[in-house]
Parts: sequence; C-alpha cells; structure tokens
Amino acid sequence: MLVLEKNSITEEIEALVVENGSDRSALMPILQAVQAKHRYIPDFAQQEIARLLDIHPVEVFSVISFYSFLHSEPQGRNIVRLCRTIVCDLAGKTEVEKAVMRELKINIGETTKDKKVTLEHTNCLGMCDQGPAMMVNDKIYTKLTPEKAVEILKSI
Ligand code: FES
Repeated sequence: MLVLEKNSITEEIEALVVENGSDRSALMPILQAVQAKHRYIPDFAQQEIARLLDIHPVEVFSVISFYSFLHSEPQGRNIVRLCRTIVCDLAGKTEVEKAVMRELKINIGETTKDKKVTLEHTNCLGMCDQGPAMMVNDKIYTKLTPEKAVEILKSI
C-alpha cells in the first residue's frame, strides 16, 4: 500500500516536472500543485521534488517553512486565519483569539483532532478599519467579537 502511494506521488511529481520544467523556478509551482492536491506536502513528496529538480531536500523544506500557505503537515479541511497585525490587535484580536482557541480546543498553528479545522495567524487581511478580522477558507469576516467568532466557527 505504502509502495503504491509512493509510486503515485513519484508519478505525480514527474508529471509536474514535465509541465513546469526541472530548474529551480519550477520549485514553487510544483509545491503549490502538491499542496493544492493533498492540502500539505508529504515528506516523500519533498524528497522526490528535491531529487527531480536536483536540489537539496533542505532547500525544499526551507521554502515550505518560509511560506505560510505551504505546509509539511496535514491540514484541516477548513483553514481559519486570524489577523495578527497591530490594528486588529488594538481592536480586540486577543479576546477573539482566546475564544476561538477555546472553541476549537487547539492553539494557533494546530489542527483539530477530527481534521476539520486548522487555526493559523495571518498578516493584515486588508480590512484594518473593520478589525478584528478573520478569514475562513476564502471568506473574510470582520468586526469580530468573541461571540461572533464562535458563531462563525459553529457554522462551518
Ligand atoms: S490589521 Fe487586521 S486586517 Fe489589517
């Protein structure tokens, strides 16, 4: 079973290399494609990307670690991103954050046990005049209170 999975990951990355090329500039589009399909970039995929692009696996991992939209661990089916930038902070982000963590029973950077939700921080969502702001998947919610944030979480 594991061998089959590894073979299919290898085939998938080989196809992405055909599509995007095998030089360094192909790294990001390949990582994004793997992330989009699996919602994270498994260890074996990282190794195969490094092998096929002829770069060190540490370089692949460094890029994944640098970008907040790339993940080396499985993510939840829903991604909740709470703005951590100063304007939202001053508007009451900390209380909203506490309520969200209490409701989900996880901390920032973690995923619920049922893999339903991953909770992350994000930088400014461009809604500073309506903070605190939070993004759930692609939708932005503004003027949050702890109660409003919990209601939104219950609806996903
Ligand atoms: S500071 Fe939070 S949306 Fe801009």
